[in-house]
Amino acid sequence: MNAKKWLRLKGIESIWSSAEGASLLLSVMADGETACNGEVDILGPISEYIGPGPLQNMVYAHIEDEHRHSDMILGHLKSIGMSPRYVQDELRYAKAFSRELEIFQRGIQDDEDLAIMALIVMVFEERAISEYELLLVSRVIPEEFKEIIQEIIRDEKRHLGYCLRLANSYVSDSLLLNMLLSKIRTLEAKVFSRYNMETLRVFTSRDCMGKGRWHRVWKFLASSSRTTFGLPDYTRFFHTSFDDLGKISR
Ligand SMILES: [Fe+2]
Ligand SMILES: [Fe+2]
Repeated sequence: MNAKKWLRLKGIESIWSSAEGASLLLSVMADGETACNGEVDILGPISEYIGPGPLQNMVYAHIEDEHRHSDMILGHLKSIGMSPRYVQDELRYAKAFSRELEIFQRGIQDDEDLAIMALIVMVFEERAISEYELLLVSRVIPEEFKEIIQEIIRDEKRHLGYCLRLANSYVSDSLLLNMLLSKIRTLEAKVFSRYNMETLRVFTSRDCMGKGRWHRVWKFLASSSRTTFGLPDYTRFFHTSFDDLGKISR
């Protein structure tokens, strides 16, 4: 694990140590799975462009999965006696990302746009898997929640495979697909890094970063350093080619 990921894991553990923090973190995760800002928002236009048929059915199944993930996370939140918290726009990752790409403003106009959208979903899945895997190595996150996470990860890996199929059905040039994927991943790593900085500020201002010695570290980072969290944050998939992703999804 690199230093940046280790620091983020420490951050998650600080958040988890506070009841308010854990409630907000789980609310953000559930919201990110679906609500009005996550992948589901992107999948709507994708399914419209595709039209009726087996591929569209796969998109509908994906939407159902994401809603189920959200319910599973909220179910855990309630099972530990907490209630969902308000998720402000700064905490919505897909929103932060969609501001960076004009395809979200103009919509899907041709087959290449559709493939780009499928790749964007794919990169979101890569990010989700990476972030959920980080929770699995924590000694603070309870086993019951880790089991939920493992189940979600299995679905997200399956989603990778169908996004591959989706992109490939509209653009067959694998050189082009790899180039587009690499561009989206590079942008996403930068956006994710900035988003993390922003979430740290929000969690700190909402008093959700726990207590103790780490509390001062988070306050300092939230108020100052752009460089610590400002570097791009790549997922473990960054160097995996479009075709090799297929093996992971099986
Ligand atoms: Fe999901
Ligand atoms: Fe997913």
